[in-house]
Amino acid sequence: ELSPIDTAKFAAAREASQLVKSGMTVGLGTGSTAAWMVRCLGERVRNEGLKIRGVPTSTRTAKLAQDVGIEVLKLDEAGWLDLTIDGTDEYDPDLNLIKGAGGALLQEKIVATASNRMVVIADSSKTVAGLGAFPLSIEVIPFGLSLTKQLIEEMLSSLDVAGRTVSQRMVDGQPFVTDEGNQILDLHLRRIGKPHQLSLMLNQVPGVVENGLFLDICDTVFLGHEDGHVDVIE
Ligand code: A5P
Repeated sequence: ELSPIDTAKFAAAREASQLVKSGMTVGLGTGSTAAWMVRCLGERVRNEGLKIRGVPTSTRTAKLAQDVGIEVLKLDEAGWLDLTIDGTDEYDPDLNLIKGAGGALLQEKIVATASNRMVVIADSSKTVAGLGAFPLSIEVIPFGLSLTKQLIEEMLSSLDVAGRTVSQRMVDGQPFVTDEGNQILDLHLRRIGKPHQLSLMLNQVPGVVENGLFLDICDTVFLGHEDGHVDVIE
């Protein structure tokens, strides 16, 4: 028996997984909602003989995809993708996103950008009028991290944001390390007035590899509800 939130996530994941057809190369997102989608695709591979190739966005997703019987390959082997399905932390009315709670934002952004179509699967807790209540993840290289953090703090003081606290993501008292060997700064901004400007400026800072704003990348949101119905937002 699924909890209400898992019912919503599963409904969105199952519906979006129906977009996948044999012959497609599919980007596989990261997180609990994306995990439902990977399981749904695995079931279709086993039950319907669906023939797909999956490009995972994290080691976690790669392992799950292999466990459920999906052929996995690297992005460089796959080339351009037909479709990517991924979760999100927030989406706004323009279908701009904040992603990164799972720490996989760099691979997720590269894979989504390399796809003809990006579909986000979400429950209603991800719906926002404006981005920023959720912390914005920034992937930074470990070298000079405290200086990179200071540069970002200075930069934020000139921007249209409500909060300016920057914290390093820690796990069990140690810096969180991404699949690429980088670390994560979380920006607590509360409200992001100009996401495009913020994204450009963050990526100008030398130690920044990428930020968790996914702007003009998502094409469609499948929004699952606790009663199992799904809205498609385009
Ligand atoms: C991973 O880095 C994130 O971008 C995820 O897509 C996001 O955190 C969604 O995860 P859930 O589906 O578990 O909420």
